[in-house]
Amino acid sequence: MWYQTLTAAALLASEVFAAPAPAVIHKRQDGTDAVVAPTKLPTGPPGSSGSLRGSESLAGYRSSYPSSVKSTESSPDDYELGTNQDADPDLGLPIDLSNTRNPQPITPQDGDPTDPGPRNRMLEKQNPSLYVPPSTDSGDAPNAKWPLGLSHNRHGLDGSGYARQQNNEQLPVASAMAGVDMRLEPNAYRELHWHKANEWSLILNGSVRLNAVNEAGETFVDDLQAGDVWFFPAGVPHSIQASDAGVEFLLVFDDGSFSEDETFLVSELFERNPKSVLAKNFRVDTSAFDKIPDGELYIFNGTPYPNSTSASNVTGPAGVIPRQGTYSYHLSQQEPFEVPGGSVKILDPATFPVASNFAAALFTVKPGAMRELHWHTTSDEWNYIISGQGRLTVYVAPEASRTFDFRAGDVGYVPVPDAHYLENTGNEDLVYIEILQAPVYNDISVAQWLGLTPKQVVKDHLGFSEDTLDRLPQVKPFILPGDPDLSKTNFTGTGL
Ligand SMILES: *[C@@H]1O[C@H](CO)[C@@H](O)[C@H](O)[C@H]1NC(C)=O
Ligand SMILES: *[C@@H]1O[C@H](CO)[C@@H](O)[C@H](O)[C@H]1NC(C)=O
Ligand SMILES: *[C@@H]1O[C@H](CO)[C@@H](O)[C@H](O)[C@H]1NC(C)=O
Ligand SMILES: *[C@@H]1O[C@H](CO)[C@@H](O)[C@H](O)[C@H]1NC(C)=O
Repeated sequence: MWYQTLTAAALLASEVFAAPAPAVIHKRQDGTDAVVAPTKLPTGPPGSSGSLRGSESLAGYRSSYPSSVKSTESSPDDYELGTNQDADPDLGLPIDLSNTRNPQPITPQDGDPTDPGPRNRMLEKQNPSLYVPPSTDSGDAPNAKWPLGLSHNRHGLDGSGYARQQNNEQLPVASAMAGVDMRLEPNAYRELHWHKANEWSLILNGSVRLNAVNEAGETFVDDLQAGDVWFFPAGVPHSIQASDAGVEFLLVFDDGSFSEDETFLVSELFERNPKSVLAKNFRVDTSAFDKIPDGELYIFNGTPYPNSTSASNVTGPAGVIPRQGTYSYHLSQQEPFEVPGGSVKILDPATFPVASNFAAALFTVKPGAMRELHWHTTSDEWNYIISGQGRLTVYVAPEASRTFDFRAGDVGYVPVPDAHYLENTGNEDLVYIEILQAPVYNDISVAQWLGLTPKQVVKDHLGFSEDTLDRLPQVKPFILPGDPDLSKTNFTGTGL
């Protein structure tokens, strides 16, 4: 409404100085009318030339027009093929474009399409499975990848740290979980706060001191280091302070629309209540609140915490939160379960009961090896790559699949019960964490499923030989070893 009035006034004013421009009525997106003053042509600012629009005669067929203009076609001299790009497409080997000059989306099965541009080669080199998809990719599958390097990085005060997040605005398929990567410089705080969602965290680097108080007035203090986990239930207020070494951690929330920018903060709590109420609440004079912060603290620098945890151990009559309800788990100290091809640590409510619906598996997959083909029966999977790189194919019923490439710092998301694997395509260990919303870590191993199905049934479906049927395992392998030379495709001789 005000916009319409202003525009009408502007039109009136312009009539005083120039020939009246005819008022044009536009529909706004919401269907209401707007009066818009058309840009006068061809007048432009000093130094401009030409006209803003072309002639109407450019529309449509022109008799004297070149029928084809060559795009800069790539001749074979201008580009290279990536590793495995010319391999038998039936094998679907991972393609590596990282050191390839001017990569092209050429596949033996689709002929030789070339890419004259415009293009972003850096992204194409990082995502060969999207740029040159394996021949098995088909149909529509939702995007499964969000690199946190593409998220807005919210900086703390005075260089104290940052936080960047992935929720269903960045990754629309991620309805059940959202994630945050947060860095706190030495001694910095994530301000005292609470939130609506449950928070599960894995420390990625450095160390931290945590404090919290629950509804019963029981307290919690603990020091954690890289590889350890904490959980704070929704609504429970907590403090997170980096050690002298600083800290970086991953947060996972059980709500795909969670925003790190919408948490409840102690600074705002004090700013949003009348000082007379604060004075009454704390039995002091209002001058006690003269130094409360102006605006959010969010992430800010602090004084070092005392070396001993017991010096940060405030206990009231209710005592400390008992072990069965504790908010921390020293996962870094858990022995990994070793299998050929890597190792896994599982953490779920069986040993960390307070996180009653978070089930996690921390995998280390050796070069060439692969987290086996599997799916989860009850929950979407949120995952995060801690180091290394890999590729993952999501199979979505009835007949779609898509392959994505991941590297450290990327978030992945696979909806329940879509089948997937994660293959190490690099030359260092692939370390990543899978997180489910489940009271127990669960998956269906395709290999075990078929190994525990009558051979006659499997043979009738898949035409396997007796030898192949005999190799199907009855125990979940979790990870399958492979050769770092990814072009090797015969595993019958490996004895595993
Ligand atoms: C942790 O930080 C240190 C210092 O920046 C770095 O050298 C190290 O690689 C980091 N660790 C991981 C697992 O990223
Ligand atoms: C912690 O201990 C170190 C030596 O181990 C000492 O230099 C430092 O001052 C101590 N910090 C605090 C806050 O007590
Ligand atoms: C904190 O104090 C309580 C006793 O009040 C004790 O049971 C608990 O072990 C202490 N925790 C730490 C980390 O010192
Ligand atoms: C695969 O390897 C095994 C063991 O080395 C060998 O016997 C077999 O012939 C190989 N299969 C093919 C198709 O090359």
